[in-house]
Amino acid sequence: MKMKKQFPDLHYLYEAAVQGVGADLDFAARVFKKKNGRKAADLREDFCGTAALACEWVSRSPKHRAWGVDIDQPTLDWGLAHNVPYIGENAGKLDLICGDVLTAKTPPADLVLALNFSYCIFKTREQLRNYFIKARSALKKDGLLVLDIYGGTEAIEAKLEPRDVGAFTAKDGTKIPVFEYTWDQNIYNVIDHHVVNYIHFDIPKVGKIKKAFTYDWRLWTLPELQELLFEAGFESAEVYLHGWNKDGESDETYRPRKNYENALGWVAYIVGIN
Ligand SMILES: C[S@@+](CC[C@H](N)C(=O)[O-])C[C@H]1O[C@@H](n2cnc3c(N)ncnc32)[C@H](O)[C@@H]1O
Repeated sequence: MKMKKQFPDLHYLYEAAVQGVGADLDFAARVFKKKNGRKAADLREDFCGTAALACEWVSRSPKHRAWGVDIDQPTLDWGLAHNVPYIGENAGKLDLICGDVLTAKTPPADLVLALNFSYCIFKTREQLRNYFIKARSALKKDGLLVLDIYGGTEAIEAKLEPRDVGAFTAKDGTKIPVFEYTWDQNIYNVIDHHVVNYIHFDIPKVGKIKKAFTYDWRLWTLPELQELLFEAGFESAEVYLHGWNKDGESDETYRPRKNYENALGWVAYIVGIN
């Protein structure tokens, strides 16, 4: 009997295709040390999902602690089953909270990270300012809020962007073959900057999952984000953008910038400084 190959759990594919937790943490730790002359230790990951980033943080140093906040218990459960068991005794320095980022209570953190544009669910200035106020209140006096956003001329058009992701073996031994990840900017409304984006996956000889993840967001601009951080009480808001390699791709080196020539696509970090 021919066995039908089973489609792997979507979270493996998401973490491999979308997240770059090592680079995100290197960036946040570097900026914190530069600003404060000491190393960050306590980190809160908002919209943590499977808590891949929080798990990596507590694994980096015995001094590190992390809190992850997500509203969806099944996603947290996946992280508890597939990420947390592989960080050994560091799991004792990690606390995952099922709750709303607007109301979750955590001890004062050096860093609050809200990445992969998750805060774009807040679609009005009032809602986003309120989130920034709450994130600021979760920080120590010298703490930093680290966000990211995408932009560029192709960010404001409907388009499909397929990309192959290499085969890998997950920490629990699950073998993931080469697969195609497609970022589908399906709707962009010029009037209010509301967007609907999807992620599709296609594993050759296994199957396709259309609309594996759906994002109903407002695509915020860099000036709006900086203004709202100020309005939320942050003393400054810095924009860090990457340079370009010889192939015209991001060189992954993020520097604070006041000017930046637009390009087809870029990703920026925005740092709210207390
Ligand atoms: C795009 S995923 C982010 C996953 C991962 N942290 C990353 O950086 O790629 C967004 C997550 O935000 C969670 N979420 C949505 N609204 C939330 C809220 N108000 N409070 C906490 N979590 C929320 C969802 O359950 C989902 O897991």
